[in-house]
Amino acid sequence: MVRTIVLGGSAGAHVGYELAELVGARYCDVEVSQFPDGELYVRVPVDVEGEDVVYVNSLAGRPNELLVETILTLDTIADLGAGSVHAVLTYIPYARQDSRFKPGEAVSALVVGKLLRSLRVSSIYTFDLHLHRIQDPRQVFGESFRNLTAIRDLARYVASTYGVRNPVVVGPDEEAEQWAKMAAEELGGVGYTVMEKRRLSATEVVVEPRDVELVRGKDVLLVDDIISTGGTVVEAVRVLRRSGAREVYVAVTHAVLAGRAYGRLVQLGLRGLVASDTVPSPISRVHVAPILARYFK
Ligand code: R5P
Repeated sequence: MVRTIVLGGSAGAHVGYELAELVGARYCDVEVSQFPDGELYVRVPVDVEGEDVVYVNSLAGRPNELLVETILTLDTIADLGAGSVHAVLTYIPYARQDSRFKPGEAVSALVVGKLLRSLRVSSIYTFDLHLHRIQDPRQVFGESFRNLTAIRDLARYVASTYGVRNPVVVGPDEEAEQWAKMAAEELGGVGYTVMEKRRLSATEVVVEPRDVELVRGKDVLLVDDIISTGGTVVEAVRVLRRSGAREVYVAVTHAVLAGRAYGRLVQLGLRGLVASDTVPSPISRVHVAPILARYFK
């Protein structure tokens, strides 16, 4: 009998374990350690021959190391004769470098896509992937790629936890319009808008309001895919408050929280600041395993 086995990578156990419980599958951690010279050691400690294997990892925080760990593991699972291999990479790094902005730059998103496609996986799942200049991510990650979303669950979580009144949804830049629209639908078809963002450096942005009348006196749900340095959210919250928002709540899928981001966010004194657990963090309240479970039942 073919069984489903869920294997958790070193940053994917929290989602993998919950997913296995939800779908009634066996769960096992992949063994990962480091040799003294910095190279990684990976071992799949169960027999996967002929089985359907779901491998779960989140490639944030230590993206280079986690990418190598994931490549070593996925190739090994296929090599050990698994019947099918499904890669759930809750956060895929390098996606923001999806174009050659300056001559000679690596288009890192395409390189990562090529690597993952070469690993004999039956399908790749992720959440709210940040590929803005590429129309169809299947061109990068293969035909069976699925880009799921945590934004709807995040919007429902904020609405029910904080009892927001008369809300509107705002995205900090044009690229966030897709997520603002989804969250607005989830809140019952409320109004939404996006702001205009200009990036000055890796940590600093300027955000300008577009629709001050829409946010004045309202509870605002600010949604985005990623908080990395926190620059975008910090600036967007300041602008929304200056524009007369009654209360600002922030919900993002991936709390990457690089460097001092968490401290910067705490200083904002927000009533609600939540993320999903695609990347484990102090603000990860919404679990994505139930979303994934629909695909592996
Ligand atoms: C950019 O387009 C993304 O959607 C995020 O707004 C951005 O990556 C967040 O980065 P940071 O937190 O460093 O401003």
